[in-house]
Amino acid sequence: MTAHTLPRIFSGVQPTGNLHLGNYLGAIRNWVKLQHDHECLFCVVDLHAITVWQDPAELRRATREVAAAMVASGIDAEKHIIFHQSAVPAHAQLAWVFNCVARMGWLNRMTQFKEKAGKDREAASVGLYAYPNLMAADILAYKATRVPVGDDQKQHLELANDIAQKFNHDTGRAVFPMIEPIIMGPAARVMSLRDGTKKMSKSDPSDQSRINLTDDADAIALKVRRAKTDPEPLPSEEAGLEGRAEARNLVGIYAGLTDLHPAAVLTEHGNKPFSAFKAALTDLLVASLSPIASEMRRLLAEEGAVEAILRSGAERARALSAPVIAEVEDAVGFLRT
Ligand code: TRP
Repeated sequence: MTAHTLPRIFSGVQPTGNLHLGNYLGAIRNWVKLQHDHECLFCVVDLHAITVWQDPAELRRATREVAAAMVASGIDAEKHIIFHQSAVPAHAQLAWVFNCVARMGWLNRMTQFKEKAGKDREAASVGLYAYPNLMAADILAYKATRVPVGDDQKQHLELANDIAQKFNHDTGRAVFPMIEPIIMGPAARVMSLRDGTKKMSKSDPSDQSRINLTDDADAIALKVRRAKTDPEPLPSEEAGLEGRAEARNLVGIYAGLTDLHPAAVLTEHGNKPFSAFKAALTDLLVASLSPIASEMRRLLAEEGAVEAILRSGAERARALSAPVIAEVEDAVGFLRT
């Protein structure tokens, strides 16, 4: 099979805060696997990041860090495209057109906006409201058909399909394909080390709640040792994880990093006290993350290295998006000179 016949993937990650184990197991690690039978665009979505206030220097730092993490985790930046969203004008261009396609009623149903805007919706940025339209533009500017995301993004992809369909219908042209989500299941979902019912998150005020990709071995050991558990030893069967969110999370992390099923992890580690399992988990985390962290450090320290990767990615992304934008302009009726 030649490269251009492979299905095209688009996915994005926001450059906000530090990258943590949840971003790695929930997203980047899956992308690394998908690159073998797809043509991939992986985007650092800085336009999405500024829908809430970002400190400019911190935004730049995080943009470099996310790109470095993708490469350090094993995404091939020559075969595939790693780039940052603001470097390719097609995203903002197409998002504007989609602002005029999507209906207020559709966006009013978006649960993530309601969560992020909180009680004071009047104070939310217009960008936060229109966030899903930009996300649709990200994907459709390349006519990508497969999008790996966590289940919290499923509603946004349904909206993207509604937009694509309405655009095609209104213009009478089959410009956009339908998008097929690749939903990364609960197995890929990493929870807080302090509360197994909450997602591991960069916005959690406690750094003890998450393992950052750049944490060293001592920090990882300490966080795992302090991770919340319950007094019972590990069960030997998966059913025994019922109602034990913290135990399930630690087993899930182990399973994710080894590509084992949680049941297989319990066959090996069941009936052990948490202290023994935590020691094994620490070793596994250090062995899995430290090569990534050191490669990230090397890339980030090398003057211009990350910028060169992103520049090359953006150049190729611009070339792929240009004919799609031309087609959209033509369909809408923008005069092309
Ligand atoms: N909204 C996604 C998230 O927060 C990030 C994102 C932006 C994205 N654009 C995308 C994901 C396009 C997939 C495809 O996780």
